[in-house]
Amino acid sequence: MAQSPQAQSDLVFALRRVTERAACAAFDWIGRGKSNEGDKAAVDAMRAALEDIDIDGTVVIGEGEKDEAPQLYNGERVGRPDAAFKADIAVDPVEGTSYLAKGLTNALAVIAVAPAGSLMSPGPAFYMEKLAVPPKAKGKIDPAWPTKKRLEELAKVLGKDICDLTVFVLEKPRHRKLVEDIYDAGARVALYPAGDVAGALLAAMPGSGIDALMGTGGTPEGIMSACAIRGLGGEFLGRLDPQLQTEKQAVEAAGLDTRRWCKLEELASSPDVFFCATGITTGLMLEGVERSDGQTKVQTLMITGQTRERQILTNYLPDPRT
Ligand code: FBP
Repeated sequence: MAQSPQAQSDLVFALRRVTERAACAAFDWIGRGKSNEGDKAAVDAMRAALEDIDIDGTVVIGEGEKDEAPQLYNGERVGRPDAAFKADIAVDPVEGTSYLAKGLTNALAVIAVAPAGSLMSPGPAFYMEKLAVPPKAKGKIDPAWPTKKRLEELAKVLGKDICDLTVFVLEKPRHRKLVEDIYDAGARVALYPAGDVAGALLAAMPGSGIDALMGTGGTPEGIMSACAIRGLGGEFLGRLDPQLQTEKQAVEAAGLDTRRWCKLEELASSPDVFFCATGITTGLMLEGVERSDGQTKVQTLMITGQTRERQILTNYLPDPRT
């Protein structure tokens, strides 16, 4: 749905309250070893905040099916049924639940919104191989090339030496060879145990210190990243890459192609996307929630697809306990 630039700006500004509230709720659970409780607090806060948003939304990437997730389950209607903007909603109230539980950096609260029907459904595929690179490299790197060739081409289009490239990779046993190949090619690896949404976004932001995201992570996180990257103008490509035995069987039974790389425009088919991420704990991209002297400081990245605007807002909220 075409919206005026003012309406788009109003919507992303309103949406940022949804991730702010989730991050503030999760804050109480940082470093307490309880990822489920932290996630639940963020889910409840996000669900409540969505009621004030002027969209008629359906959760397409949420906390799972209704039976296991009472709030923000796939298919749940959120927002206002009479709103003109009919939307797909993808949420990750805590991206990096292990970071939250362990009190580590880089936990985020994330939401992506796109016109109804425009986000790819992950179906039974939990895992996806991903490639994210900056705008200059869009359309220039074939994700199926060997790692060395991908890096050589990336270095060429970015006007850098390979030794100056840094690739974000999740630190997982499945990535041993990928990491070796990147070292052998001469590039650096930023190895993080979790949180590849931030990795993908940073790869799409020139000057962030991350030049690419490679490797396999969650499919829902991939679709959310694709949404944001439509608004950043970078490249994101994804290939379903099931890791679990049951997942492999389900993906095969559903007839899904695990060899084909999906284009950004298939993962998020409309440019009319909105994305917000608020830092829960301080990380590569955003500062985390800070509470002191009766106020709570939160920082949010807001992306508007149509206008290709990227803003970071630092907001000071009254401490709910004072
Ligand atoms: P959680 O928020 O569920 O902890 O997910 C974090 C994350 O690291 C994602 O960023 C990533 O896409 C996915 O998990 C990778 O999954 P796995 O840890 O199972 O390899």
